[in-house]
Amino acid sequence: MIVEHNVPLQPHNSFGIVARAQHLVRIADASDVADLLADEAWRNAPKFVLGGGSNIVITGDVKPLVLKVEIKGLRLVDEQPRAWIVEAGAGELWHDTVRWTLDQGLPGLENLALIPGTVGGAPVQNIGAYGVELQDRFESLDAIDLETGRSFTLDAAQCAFGYRDSVFKHVAPGPNDFGLAGRALITRVRFRLPRPWKAVAGYVDLERKMAETGNFTPNPRDIFDWICAIRKAKLPDWRVLGNAGSFFKNPTVTPEQCADIIARDPKIVHYPMADGSVKLAAGWLIDACGWKGKTVGNAGVYERQALVLVNRGGQKNPVTGGEVMTLAKAIQTSVYERFGIRLEPEPVVV
Ligand code: EPU
Repeated sequence: MIVEHNVPLQPHNSFGIVARAQHLVRIADASDVADLLADEAWRNAPKFVLGGGSNIVITGDVKPLVLKVEIKGLRLVDEQPRAWIVEAGAGELWHDTVRWTLDQGLPGLENLALIPGTVGGAPVQNIGAYGVELQDRFESLDAIDLETGRSFTLDAAQCAFGYRDSVFKHVAPGPNDFGLAGRALITRVRFRLPRPWKAVAGYVDLERKMAETGNFTPNPRDIFDWICAIRKAKLPDWRVLGNAGSFFKNPTVTPEQCADIIARDPKIVHYPMADGSVKLAAGWLIDACGWKGKTVGNAGVYERQALVLVNRGGQKNPVTGGEVMTLAKAIQTSVYERFGIRLEPEPVVV
């Protein structure tokens, strides 16, 4: 186990923010965590688990020991009559994992193509796109409790998945409560890919692709290609223009609140949910407040999707975490003043 000091984090966060980890250790195997916890000097030190850095805003040098997860490995672990079970190391890149499953003839993750980040980050925020959420393809995961060193396995119910939410985002408020934020390091994730495969193509952007191409019976590879094209047209590539994907969650309101807003803004984009609530498109709310294309300091609102905040300074003169958060707060204030809705940021602020 090698602990590195003063490690630049700019290559390890998709905003491209400049900051350093005071101490960083690379975790290539579960045994590296055991070694770390066996070491008096580090056992009780505060720790921060870093995956692909695609959903974080770094606001200064990181003092806790950074555990950079680099656990690799992709394999088919079980072939059941109703599903293939595939396992991936938490340090595998998410998109490469999706591509690998398709290359193996194991479809089911194609709607989640091109999402930045690593496999280990996927369950933390229950990544979702174009009609599929991770929880729809999830079997179980292995993790290590960083306080006790114990390994454990969680199924979907134990992960308590919600919209961009899981047990890994919550701190246990009491000794009998279950919350694993800052406490668990995910080592491997297993996916359940249903057999026979069925296309999920109900999302409006995918319906448009079907109409455009005249292909109404897409195969997994068609959907993969369409998703990649849709994302490329709508979302900036973080390697070219730093960003962390959607910066806010889509808020839910009661039907009464929604009716109120519709009375004032008939064009608001809204979707009725199964539980009776109504989900609003945060991108539309931000757009309606005039933020699209605006820049404050080196932080900007992407011109093609107002839900995405971007680094306008590039690698040379990059945005700071403070600038990103200042812009985010200004957006929250104007959306609240106009619509009475509090937008909740999606990324983790470090
Ligand atoms: N809209 C506007 N103006 C904008 C942006 C959006 O009017 O500037 C409207 C669009 O016209 C559309 C609606 O808002 O009618 C929804 O936009 P979009 O289809 O782009 O989806 P989204 O709700 O903004 C969510 C996820 C994305 C995911 C897409 C596709 C969240 C927070 N975001 O975005 O996930 O890729 O749906 O499923 O749920 C991410 O989490 O980082 C992410 C990119």
